[in-house]
Amino acid sequence: MERTLESIRQDFDRDLANAASSADYEQLKVAYLGKKGRVTELFKELKNVEPSQKKEAGQLINTLRAEVEEKLAAGAEKCRQAEEERLVNEAEAYDFTRPAEAEQGSLHPITLVQREVEEIFASMGFTIEDYLEVVDEYKNFESLNIPKHHPARDMQDTYYLDNGQLLKSHTSAAQNAIMRKYGAPLRAIFPGRCFRNEATDASHENTFFQMEGIMIDTDISISNLIYFMKTMLSEVFHREVKVRLRPGFFPFVEPGFELDISCLICGGDGCPTCKQSGWLELCPCGMIHPNVLTAGGIDPEKYTGFAFGLGLTRLAMMKYGIKDIRTLNSGNLKALSQFTAR
Ligand code: PHE
Repeated sequence: MERTLESIRQDFDRDLANAASSADYEQLKVAYLGKKGRVTELFKELKNVEPSQKKEAGQLINTLRAEVEEKLAAGAEKCRQAEEERLVNEAEAYDFTRPAEAEQGSLHPITLVQREVEEIFASMGFTIEDYLEVVDEYKNFESLNIPKHHPARDMQDTYYLDNGQLLKSHTSAAQNAIMRKYGAPLRAIFPGRCFRNEATDASHENTFFQMEGIMIDTDISISNLIYFMKTMLSEVFHREVKVRLRPGFFPFVEPGFELDISCLICGGDGCPTCKQSGWLELCPCGMIHPNVLTAGGIDPEKYTGFAFGLGLTRLAMMKYGIKDIRTLNSGNLKALSQFTAR
């Protein structure tokens, strides 16, 4: 046993001297201390040792294990520091004064569509608002006429934080704050990142962008809503798009709709993209519920308004023909940089 111990110790010291990266240390740890590691195996061999020598052998193995652990930890720490230093040096060696044309950046397709939509709405008198990504339940649900335990909460599988706050599951979460900030009359759009606990596939992501819009004034009706949506979409797609409304349920609008546009691929004749229907679902919307106006400090007897929640991610995919939603969060520059005009 003692001889085995000594040869393991020697092997370890030799391997340790050759370790150069964090990955090497990880590998050594597995090889010596892991479930089937050489030191661990020694403990299993204890059962074959003479009873009178068991205690001493056990102590020797324990000492070896402690020694290996200690040396590994010290080596790994030294290696980590060296790697950190290398990164810092590399960063410092980067020449920030290098001319831009050598490595020109590009805008993300969602940013491109977002800016385009912002410009269109700004030209129609809408203010553009920024809002938080971490909000409380009141903002995300209660102020939107979705009380605690309301089944509508199940429509959005929400990420909660330990402190009771949550990652906003839709841009509607900003409605209350913006109504309170400006009062009526009001025209605002507010783009934002939203989060839902979705299983990801080609058309589902847990992180996506919406563009919310609200318009509140005296005598606002569904016709205003249709007009603004149609104008905006025709400009985004650089052609006249037809829209239609179908009933849709959201507790914060009444009546609520799903707005479809005529399929851009087939022009409305029917194709696989629109599942032969000739229409693409693009934007839920509706007339803001009186309870939501009240919660926002606006008198629903005096004012009415519409709200819409445009899927910006969806819009970017349609506009640029991006087939897999996961591309957008992939950080794959080759795929993402091709839409910026140079
Ligand atoms: N917030 C809704 C959602 O993401 C969309 C919506 C916005 C519906 C505004 C109506 C009005 O599901």
